[in-house]
Amino acid sequence: MGNAKKLVLSALACAALAACGGEKGESAKAAPAAAKSAVVFYSQNGATRSLAKIFAEATGADLVEIKLAKPYPSTYDSTIAAVREERETGRWPELENAKPDLAKYDTLYLGYPIMFGAVPPPMRAFLDSNDLSGKTVVPFCTYGSGGRKASAEEIKTLEPKADVTIAMGISNRRITAENGTETARGEVSLFLENLRAGKTEEVLCGGYSEQRPLTAEDSAVFAKATEPYAYLGLKPLSVSTQVVAGMNYRFACEMNAFGGPAKQVDVKIFRPLPGRGEPELVVVE
Ligand SMILES: Cc1cc2nc3c(=O)[nH]c(=O)nc-3n(C[C@H](O)[C@H](O)[C@H](O)COP(=O)(O)O)c2cc1C
Repeated sequence: MGNAKKLVLSALACAALAACGGEKGESAKAAPAAAKSAVVFYSQNGATRSLAKIFAEATGADLVEIKLAKPYPSTYDSTIAAVREERETGRWPELENAKPDLAKYDTLYLGYPIMFGAVPPPMRAFLDSNDLSGKTVVPFCTYGSGGRKASAEEIKTLEPKADVTIAMGISNRRITAENGTETARGEVSLFLENLRAGKTEEVLCGGYSEQRPLTAEDSAVFAKATEPYAYLGLKPLSVSTQVVAGMNYRFACEMNAFGGPAKQVDVKIFRPLPGRGEPELVVVE
C-alpha cells in the first residue's frame, strides 16, 4: 500500500472516530496528525454539490468549489453547444479560482458531473492548472446514465503521478429524488468503507451469478428501471444478479443511443426489497 493511501485510510479512520463522538483523551492526543484532505468539486446545477457536501461531512475534509469565470448558459442545449466546442478545440474554460492552495492536502476527493461521457471542461481546466503528483485522488461524480469508470481512467492518465483510487458515482435521478440525500449518504458511506478496505474495481464487481437468459420477471424489472432512458435504445441480452438488501441486476445490453452505432454495455439496476420502492437504473457502463 502506498504512503498516500495509508494517509487517506488514517484520515478516514479519524473522521469515523469523530463521527462516533470519540473523546479527546490521551490516546487521541497521542495519535499521529490526520492527513489533511479536501473535497474539490465543480457543479453546474447542484447535484455534484450535494454529493460533495456528503463527502465532506463523511470525511471531515475541507470543501473547495471550482467556479467558472463565466458560467455556462442557463439552458441545457446551449451548455451542450459550449461544452462541445471546448472539447473540440481543447480550450478549457477560465476558472475564477484555478489554483486553490492545495499544498497542505494529501488527499483530494475530486467531484464533477459527467459531460460527454468524460471529465467536464471545468475540471479539465483545474487539472491542467494543478499538479496533483504524490497526492491521493478519490474521484466521484454524478451523471445521467454513466461515465464513472471512464472518467476515473481519464484522471489516471491526466495525473500519472497521483494515486488515483476507485471512483464513486450516482445518477442525477437518484440523488435528486425525494430521499436522494439519504440514498447518496448510504452509498458514500459504503464507498468509503470499500476504499478503507482497499477494495479494487475487480473485487467490487464480484459476487454476481453467472450471466443467464432473461426471465419474464427480469424483463419487467428492466423495462420499469429504464423507462426514463428510452433515448439510450437499450436492448437487454442476458442478466446476472447479486443478492443484497434487495437485488442488484447486471444486464448485458446492446445500446443504440440516438441511433448511433450499436455498442455492448452493462446496465446495473437495483431492485429494493418488496414495498420499498421501484427498480431503478444505477449506471450504464
Ligand atoms: C453538457 C452536458 C453533457 C452531459 N453529458 C452527459 C453524458 O455524456 N453522460 C451522462 O450520463 N450524463 C451527462 N450529462 C448529465 C450530467 O452529468 C448530470 O445531469 C449531472 O448530475 C449534473 O451535475 P450538476 O447538477 O452538479 O451540474 C451531461 C450534462 C451536460 C450539461
